Amino acid sequence: MELKLDPWGAVQIDDYSKLFDEFGISSFEEIMPEIRDPHRYMRRHIIFGHRNYRSVVDAMNQKRPFGVMSGFMPSGRVHFGHMMVMNEIIWHQQKGADAFVAIANMEAHAVRKVSWQRCRDLGINEYILSLIALGFQPSGHIYFQSENFKMRDLAFELSSAANFSEVSAIYGFSGETSIGHMASVMAQSADILHPQLEEYGGPKPVVIPVGSDQDAHIRLTRDLAYRMRKFLVEDREEYISIRGKAAGPELMKAAADSLRKAGYRNIKEYEEHIDVLDAGGREEVAEVIRRMEVGQGELGFLAPASIYHRFMVGLTGGKMSSSRPESHIALTEDPREAGKKIMRAITGGKQSLAEQKRDGGEPEKCSVYEFLVFHLSDDDRELAELYEECRSGRQMCGTCKKMVSERVVQFLTEHQQAREAARERLGEFGIKE
Ligand code: TRP
Ligand code: SF4
Repeated sequence: MELKLDPWGAVQIDDYSKLFDEFGISSFEEIMPEIRDPHRYMRRHIIFGHRNYRSVVDAMNQKRPFGVMSGFMPSGRVHFGHMMVMNEIIWHQQKGADAFVAIANMEAHAVRKVSWQRCRDLGINEYILSLIALGFQPSGHIYFQSENFKMRDLAFELSSAANFSEVSAIYGFSGETSIGHMASVMAQSADILHPQLEEYGGPKPVVIPVGSDQDAHIRLTRDLAYRMRKFLVEDREEYISIRGKAAGPELMKAAADSLRKAGYRNIKEYEEHIDVLDAGGREEVAEVIRRMEVGQGELGFLAPASIYHRFMVGLTGGKMSSSRPESHIALTEDPREAGKKIMRAITGGKQSLAEQKRDGGEPEKCSVYEFLVFHLSDDDRELAELYEECRSGRQMCGTCKKMVSERVVQFLTEHQQAREAARERLGEFGIKE
């Protein structure tokens, strides 16, 4: 009798599966069984895809070091979309990740022409206060890009390995694009990779939670991580091959020595590659080589992992846009105004009450329902019930909107109190107001 519909998977009809086939993003579903008490974004398929996230899940489950990193451009107000990234960062931090948050003031300054002073103001008073209010802990690192010289040195290093045409193919650069804009792209890659520098414990799996619009950037950065490597370790079935893709004779010798020290005996050395015939598997050899690289002062980066979340449709139906205040709710806006936006939002209801009673509503097209799924309900059962009630025509939009509107008001009121408390604690995070 009942159609088995997914009470959260269907909120958006956009074809995210295209991202899987065209760009090689893996489906999140496949990795879910390995994640212990997954975040509600994971349970509800809001996080729908990943690259290489298994490296992070394994580290998490085996209590090995791992990290989480993301960034915010201080160019406008902090809203519910940013909150998703913040919650993902905090969830990983609670699971043991070394957590990094960039306030991308170099990017905002170079790309959006925001003054340094305003970047600082927005960085603290919009993003950082909300991040702390949501539960970010001082064991993590919050930094302004312009003040992080380890990151900036790395950005320079990475920019020496990236050329103009490949980067412009991704970002649509032209002859008019400023060099600062290009530099800020390299800063973002360095943001992502710098948690693997020696001062933070060296190479480790690091996940970058982002919206799927940032995937091109992730791909570039994964490639840059690889280009920083001096060796390539490949499984050739009969043996493991170690190719010195950018290694001189000294590094080649160090590689062979490290393999012997690790206990391998059947090693064949050539000028530009080494074959190990008595290895158990590629992974363990790759790890020996990586450690040797780091020991020789090289970077030895692992490719960063990423997870991708869907976007909300937004209260007015189209895409959420910071230039249209009606389409989204800022975490810093007047709670009562926010409540009114919900009352005016587009729903999946019918033209008339009679029609809705007869045919039911469409929660999958409803921006109010979407708000509950993404942000305002922790209770999967409650949502499944509302979904049924709506579809069967027992739930009317007026009462429903009122309920969600009240929750928005309450949420924002509490969040804004927590932000004021966070202001007192900025010093603990190394932020001077
Ligand atoms: N470019 C991102 C944005 O436009 C912000 C950003 C800077 C970022 N550094 C990052 C995101 C590192 C992820 C990881 O919002
Ligand atoms: Fe949306 Fe609620 Fe109306 Fe259903 S009843 S369409 S969930 S507002």
